[in-house]
Amino acid sequence: MIHPRIIVVENPEEMGAVAADQFEALIQTKPAALLGLATGSTPIPLYRELVKRANEGKIDFSRIRSANLDEYKGLSPDHPQSYRKFMQDHLFDHVSIKPENTIVPDGLTEDVDAMCAAYEAQIEAWGGVDLQLLGIGHDGHIGFNEPDDHFPAMTHEVKLAEMTIEANKRFFDSVDDVPKAAFTMGIGTIMAARKVLLIVTGADKKEILRQTFWGPVTPQVPATILQFHPNVVLICDKAAYPF
Ligand code: F6R
Repeated sequence: MIHPRIIVVENPEEMGAVAADQFEALIQTKPAALLGLATGSTPIPLYRELVKRANEGKIDFSRIRSANLDEYKGLSPDHPQSYRKFMQDHLFDHVSIKPENTIVPDGLTEDVDAMCAAYEAQIEAWGGVDLQLLGIGHDGHIGFNEPDDHFPAMTHEVKLAEMTIEANKRFFDSVDDVPKAAFTMGIGTIMAARKVLLIVTGADKKEILRQTFWGPVTPQVPATILQFHPNVVLICDKAAYPF
């Protein structure tokens, strides 16, 4: 088993700064890097810090490419809860990244197989993901790869787990408004990234973080596959650190 490099920080704000250092170092050495990006609550302090550093002239996004992990099925790009809209609001609209250099799975696709294949092809055409940002769900999901009897390889459609629908209802008017399906990069897509940056904050993530790196590898806890990735950096705050 390959253990991650672990950085324990005081709080989410410090996580944001330390995670931004990882992005800054990559972009300085590879200005046209492909970033794999995540949404959710955890990365918000990181995106705030990246916008700040871009505005200070420390990070140049003008040649950067990005591919997001996932998108809800059935939501249009401008839907307030779509992940495309999240990315525009938290990062893309505030930095010099070119719109044509950002991809998020198309929530409105009518041809799921073709959309997923094209998504994988674009990542490959851009040379593969250099740095994949991940949050983690309470059930161990990464992207929207939910507990399963196998590790799904490539970008695909998923049915969301009840726990995930419950966790995400806070963003919607009611639980019935939460989409029941999504599109996500597969575990294979994530594992192909040259480097993975897992960010975890809050005491409610402590138990799943313990299972992720210090429990058995199983598709019932999808994040455990990261034990086999040779280049993982874990940044977690004290509240989430299991020891
Ligand atoms: C989001 C994603 C999800 C989240 C996870 C944690 O693009 O892929 O796996 O990272 O659900 O979400 P938060 O950070 O809101 O706890």
